[in-house]
Parts: sequence; C-alpha cells; structure tokens
Amino acid sequence: MAERLSGKRIFLTGAAQGIGLAIAEACLAEGAKLFLVDQDGALLEKTVAGLVAPKGHVGHSTADISDGPAIKAAIARANAEIGLVNALINNAGMNVFSTPLEATEEEWTRNFDVNVKGAWNCSKAVLPGMLANGGGAILNIASTHGFTIIPHTFPYPVAKHALLGLTKSLALEYAGQGVRVNALAPGYVETQKAIDYWNSFPDPAAARANTMALHPGGRIASAREIALAAVFMISDECPFMNAATLVVDGGLSQLQHPA
Ligand SMILES: NC(=O)c1ccc[n+]([C@@H]2O[C@H](COP(=O)([O-])OP(=O)(O)OC[C@H]3O[C@@H](n4cnc5c(N)ncnc54)[C@H](O)[C@@H]3O)[C@@H](O)[C@H]2O)c1
Repeated sequence: MAERLSGKRIFLTGAAQGIGLAIAEACLAEGAKLFLVDQDGALLEKTVAGLVAPKGHVGHSTADISDGPAIKAAIARANAEIGLVNALINNAGMNVFSTPLEATEEEWTRNFDVNVKGAWNCSKAVLPGMLANGGGAILNIASTHGFTIIPHTFPYPVAKHALLGLTKSLALEYAGQGVRVNALAPGYVETQKAIDYWNSFPDPAAARANTMALHPGGRIASAREIALAAVFMISDECPFMNAATLVVDGGLSQLQHPA
C-alpha cells in the first residue's frame, strides 16, 4: 500500500515530546520528510536521535516559535534540508492557567506569544513558498479549550479560541490558492503537560483519576490517537476539508455535566 504522506515535507513545532513527538513518528511511518522544531534543544536532540527514519528525512532546529526571525531562519533551513515545506503543523503550545484577576501581564503576553503568535509566525514564514508552488496544508493543534471554558484555566482558553480564529482567517484568505488550513482539537491527552497539570494539585493521583472519570469512556487520549487524526488532516485524503476543527476528545465536550 502507498504511504499516505509520500511527497509531504512537514515543518512541525513542539516536536521534542508529547503530541508533537507522536505526530513525528506517525508522519515518518507514512513516508513524510520532516523538519522538527522545539525550544528545548537538548530534548529535541535526544528525540531526533531516537527516531527511526531513512537518512535525509529528518532535519531539526532549536527555536522559540514566538521569535519571528528565528522561525524564519528555521524555515529557510527546512527548505534547504528537506525541500520546500508544503505542510506545517503548529503543535507547540503551553499551559497558562490562572484566573482573570490573578493572571499577570507577563502570563497574558507569554500565553498569546506562544499559543497564537507562534502559529502566525510559522504560517507567515511558510505561506509564500506554498502560494508560489500551488498550495499546501496547515494544521493548528488547538484544544477543546478553543470552544469551551474550564474555570481557573484563564487565559489559556482565550488563546485557543484565538487560534481557531487564526485558522479560519488563514483558511478563507488562501482557499482559492490551494492552501488548506484546519485545526485539531484534542481533549485531555496523556503527555508531560497533562502530568504537570495533575502535579499542580495536592493529590496528583486523585486529580488524574478525576480527569479519567470525567470522560464518557473513562479514559483520556494517547498522543498517538491525536497523531493519527493529524496524519489524516495533513494528507491528501481530505482535500475539501478547510477552515474546519476536528474534535478528538472521546465525546467529552458533548457531555452535559450535572449542575
Ligand atoms: N496534553 C493535552 O491534554 C492537550 C490537550 C489539548 C491540546 N493540547 C495541545 O497540544 C499541543 C502539544 O501539547 P503536549 O501535551 O504534547 O505538550 P508537551 O508540553 O508535552 O510538549 C510541548 C512541546 O512544545 C515545546 N514548546 C513549548 N513552547 C514552545 C515554544 N515557545 N517554542 C518552541 N517549542 C515550544 C515544549 O518544549 C515541548 O517539547 C499544545 O499546543 C497543547 O496546547 C494538549
């Protein structure tokens, strides 16, 4: 059977661990070439060394996605190493959880710089190449926080709502030029980010058990389950999917919790 991502040259952010790493593994298994970026250079080096990939299929660079010039330079390197990037997966993101009255200006700014501006920086850097070459695909890893609000997680959901706005704005702007822009909205996923969240409670094991119990199926997603959806969305299997948000949350966001 043909590999589903053969011919795809993907720039993937936040690839050193978690959902990003799972996406990298799934895309490599489907024949893509990848250029991986993360702000944690040491972890990224270790991750790249552990990936099973044919020679020339994985490039990487340490960069903070909120740094526009650094991202522009990383994309130039990607174009040189794996060929002109024709798919972008904006996965890097961070939790900033507080309340509207307690969040600091620094937290607000960092939240938007990483969770929204980072995706814009990367999109801005890849779009000229995509438009000049007849198209491409951009996938933003959003969250169910993009359309629901969990109290005490402010201002993270404000940024994820904005990321869905960015997705739709880019999608409509370039729909006539062969570029598709979509979002994938996971619910809870078992990654370091989720573990850090549970560790922020006095009883992390109880917090973890509560999270599982919230879900209709009694469990949360593995990073691989999110990666499989990402492969589909970045592939040529859904050519008319544009400006869409695919929710992968085990049904959680459809559940009516008792008041
Ligand atoms: N884990 C979940 O439950 C969950 C749920 C919904 C959405 N998401 C989203 O999925 C994405 C990945 O989450 P994860 O759980 O795998 O996180 P993670 O913390 O396990 O991994 C994120 C990676 O991104 C990198 N990163 C963070 N900020 C960066 C920056 N400014 N520049 C470059 N790299 C940066 C980190 O170094 C890390 O390696 C995020 O956008 C997150 O908001 C996660």
